Amino acid sequence: MSQGYHHITVMADEALEILNVVSGGVYLDATFGGGGHSERILEKGGRVIALDLDDEAIENARRLKERFGDRFSIFKGNFKEAFKFCRMAGVERVDGVIADLGLSSNQLEQSGRGFSFMRSEPLDMRFDRTAGRTAYELLSELSVEDIAYTLKTFADIERDTKVAGYLKEYFSKGMPNDALSFAEYIRGCRFIKRNRRIDPATRVFMAIRMLVNNEVDNLTTFLARLPMIVKNDTRVVVIAFHSVEDRIVKNIFRKFVRQDLVETEGIKLRAELLIKKVIRPSERERRSNPRSRSAKMRAIRFLRIG
Ligand SMILES: C[S@@+](CC[C@H](N)C(=O)[O-])C[C@H]1O[C@@H](n2cnc3c(N)ncnc32)[C@H](O)[C@@H]1O
Repeated sequence: MSQGYHHITVMADEALEILNVVSGGVYLDATFGGGGHSERILEKGGRVIALDLDDEAIENARRLKERFGDRFSIFKGNFKEAFKFCRMAGVERVDGVIADLGLSSNQLEQSGRGFSFMRSEPLDMRFDRTAGRTAYELLSELSVEDIAYTLKTFADIERDTKVAGYLKEYFSKGMPNDALSFAEYIRGCRFIKRNRRIDPATRVFMAIRMLVNNEVDNLTTFLARLPMIVKNDTRVVVIAFHSVEDRIVKNIFRKFVRQDLVETEGIKLRAELLIKKVIRPSERERRSNPRSRSAKMRAIRFLRIG
């Protein structure tokens, strides 16, 4: 966390321990955010190539550039193209990768982009404000079927067609481009199953954010392309915050492990899980940073064969 940019890094000790950072090693921080993981790696003497889609995160990275100079490179870009940014930094393969998925507290609380259903802000929800369509634009254009698909696949929302039909009316009637007003409207939907602990707007907002930012496609492509940037003993740590994301990580990691051989540009590798199931934040961390509660960490290691 830095002055101005607000985010408390999740599971930093666990990530650092698994990455086993060595001085002079090169590490990819695929989701820079407030830079907490990058900073810890740099403090241990590693070199970091960091990525983020959000201009505010990129701006926030200046402090690490000033402090660590050439050992730190930051690019505005999508982690699904990580190999391209590594090459731009003059690196073919890295010693470790950290991806801390989802959104930062800064984006949720201070970005003014409608990520939070508790704030009166335009329904934008883009990580990269300079590209793509806002949530309001997208939902105004999408059919009920497409919205239903989004709710079902990204947030496991039941009675998806009924809920989608209800949501679509908000946009076809030209109701306010305002997160607070939309959340209130969602609460009036009788088709959403009630859960005493969770506001009905939570999962709808999450599904829309995932749609706006192509999160499933980005994550799937990023993980599938890992062999392009790994070498012997590269460790990859991923922190997911909901079941859809975590399932993708679990399945792709398992696929790598089941394959006897991951071959890329003549380099033969195999993979092994570094965490058999998942690691959750400690009780202490969950108490001091309630946002960490849903975090699930998985890790894999690639090993060269022959
Ligand atoms: C949870 S935050 C990372 C926090 C960071 N690890 C820290 O300790 O401060 C996730 C970040 O990933 C970024 N992000 C999300 N999807 C991305 C993508 N496809 N490519 C690059 N960055 C992405 C978001 O903009 C956000 O800043």
